[in-house]
This record gives sequence, C-alpha cells and structure tokens, in this order.
Amino acid sequence: MQVIARGANRVCVIDPAAPGHCLKYALPADAGRRRPLRHRIRDAWADLRPARQANALELRAWRGLHARLGDRLDSHVAACQALVDTPAGRALRCLLVTGADGAPAPSLYALLFGSGRGHYPADALCDAVTRVEAWLHANAIPLFDLNSGNLVVVERAGRPELVCVDVKSVIGGKEIVPISRWSRRLMRRKIARRAKRLRERIRAHAPLAGVQAGH
Ligand SMILES: Nc1ncnc2c1ncn2[C@@H]1O[C@H](COP(=O)(O)OP(=O)(O)O)[C@@H](O)[C@H]1O
Ligand SMILES: [Mg+2]
Repeated sequence: MQVIARGANRVCVIDPAAPGHCLKYALPADAGRRRPLRHRIRDAWADLRPARQANALELRAWRGLHARLGDRLDSHVAACQALVDTPAGRALRCLLVTGADGAPAPSLYALLFGSGRGHYPADALCDAVTRVEAWLHANAIPLFDLNSGNLVVVERAGRPELVCVDVKSVIGGKEIVPISRWSRRLMRRKIARRAKRLRERIRAHAPLAGVQAGH
C-alpha cells in the first residue's frame, strides 16, 4: 500500500481500486504511549459502539455538512464517500486532495515540520487560516480540531489555500457537555481561539519560510 500520511488515529493510503481516492484505516492504539484518560475512555466507548469510531464519525460529520452546504463544501473539505470493505479491512474512502502535479497535497504539518518546510511564507499560511476561520464562522461550522494535520495545502490563484481532510470534530464531541455546539457565541469564540493558536504555531515554526521562498 502506498501510504500518504499517518495521523493520530488513522493511516491514509492511496486507494488502489479507485483512482483519485484515498482510504483511511484505523490504527491500533499504541499501548506504549501514555494517553489522557478521556481519550482512553472515548476509545473504549468507540470499541463498543462502531458508530463512534473515527471513520464512521467522519462520514457522518461530512454527510451532515454536505446536506447543509451541498457542493459549496467541496473547495473547503475533502469529500467522504463510503465505508468500504477491502482486503486490509474496513476503510473510509475519500476524495484524494492533490496538487497540480496530481500528487497528494501536503498537510500543513508537513509544510511546517516535514519535507515541504519553507515552501510558503508564514504570512501566506496564516492568511489561509484566517480565510478558513471566516468560512467556519460564516457557516457556523463547529470544526474545532483546527490542527495542522487536519488541513492540507493546495495552491489556488497563486496562493496557498487549506482544505480540511478530517471533519470528525464537527460531531466528535471531546467535551462531556458540548455547550460550545449549542451556543453560536461560544462556538465563534472557540473557533477563533483554535485559529489563533494555529497561526501562532505557524509563526513559531516557519520563521525562515518567507526568506527562503522570496529569493
Ligand atoms: N482526502 C485526503 N487527501 C489527501 N491527504 C489526506 C486526505 N485525508 C487524509 N490525508 C492525509 O492523512 C493525514 C491523516 O489524516 P486524518 O484524517 O487527519 O487522520 P486522523 O484521524 O489520524 O487524524 C493528513 O494529515 C493528510 O496528510
Ligand atoms: Mg486528523
């Protein structure tokens, strides 16, 4: 299998059966790694209820967003298609987000810490985060997991744009009482906080990016 990237919960590979698509497989919990109690409880709960597993959650979250926004979603969020049974087990099939060369688009994480480091100036990436933030506010989307692994970077009209490849947090519900999903004001504040943190991270980790890209 051709691995695209590994996240905290799943590994994403090129779909050998459907060109232009990828498959996400759940990874077994790493027994050696210390994890917060709430994560362990959430995962134990998910094991008992398949509907709470990452792939099922993401598909449900995407379908909910698509029902509300239709194809307007496509430029901001990678489309999820279906849970499929493959020789390697059950997986979620999604549309593969690619660059102009057809290769998988790098995550923002890869642009900050991996081989793509320095490709874009920090300001351009921060502006892209601000555009995502504005879109989330405008559509009242409680996408709270605004981390660099959940966003891939594509180039449109000569500037970087972010496409979300992991929307499970829209219904994921890490909080026990999801007040920030009920109150528009709290949702706004939480999204703003997460976007600000992501911009701070970009500025902290891409200090030389502008210098490299400019000359
Ligand atoms: N639709 C997609 N197109 C391109 N790359 C993707 C896609 N979905 C996931 N990826 C890659 O896989 C990585 C992990 O995916 P993610 O869904 O966030 O997994 P996890 O559930 O472990 O957080 C991302 O950082 C990205 O590099
Ligand atoms: Mg993720």
